[in-house]
Amino acid sequence: MSRAHERAYALLAERVRLEDRSRRALYAALAALIGTGAWWLVVHYAESEDLARLAREAIALKLHGAAAFVTLFALGAMSASHARRGWALERNRSSGSVLIAAFALLTATGYALYYLVDDATRPPVSLLHWIAGVALAPLVLAHIVAGRRSRPSLKAAPEARGSSVSAKHHPS
Ligand code: HEM
Ligand code: HEM
Repeated sequence: MSRAHERAYALLAERVRLEDRSRRALYAALAALIGTGAWWLVVHYAESEDLARLAREAIALKLHGAAAFVTLFALGAMSASHARRGWALERNRSSGSVLIAAFALLTATGYALYYLVDDATRPPVSLLHWIAGVALAPLVLAHIVAGRRSRPSLKAAPEARGSSVSAKHHPS
């Protein structure tokens, strides 16, 4: 790879990273999303008294729906920069694609739970939705770890943002 290409690669690689504020916002939205989903599961499976359980489930779902909207907004905002640049650099493609597939499944089954299901179809759709939901945290974690490992080593040397990229240019 020529020096110019190395430099371009290094700059692009830097810009795959989410800015601190966006990253924190995304983590907060994901924590709220997963937390409220888990809250519903605990209430649903641990509480026996019907009326109290239904009331608590309703609160959890109201907050879950709000967290879902915020998460979808955050995903949309980051997909043009983060996912597109990462894809162009051939870094973290497989775990990134798994994440996008998981979000697509969650969104489709979430929509179905709200608008489409009836008494017969609700249990399997619900099961599919929350299993994908519970799997989301380890998937995101694996994506972050793999992404960090695939980072080109931009040494904090004078050339840091320039020519000396002792890069692992391997797709992950
Ligand atoms: C972008 C991702 C997600 C979206 C768009 C989404 C959306 C939704 C929607 C619209 C509902 C139906 C709400 C209602 O009936 O009032 C729902 C229910 C639920 N979600 Fe999510 N959700 C997502 C991620 C998650 C995650 C990560 C979990 C983690 C466990 C989760 C767990 C649940 C549970 C347990 C329910 C209740 C299921 C039921 O009513 O039978 N969801 N979700
Ligand atoms: C095919 C799609 C995707 C690709 C190619 C991709 C690529 C990458 C790469 C290369 C990194 C490492 C950045 C670095 O540390 O230098 C990374 C980190 C990360 N990715 Fe993705 N990603 C994709 C989709 C997603 C999605 C859908 C999410 C939503 C949760 C996501 C969230 C993150 C987060 C939170 C990090 C760690 C924070 C950071 O260092 O910026 N990615 N991704």
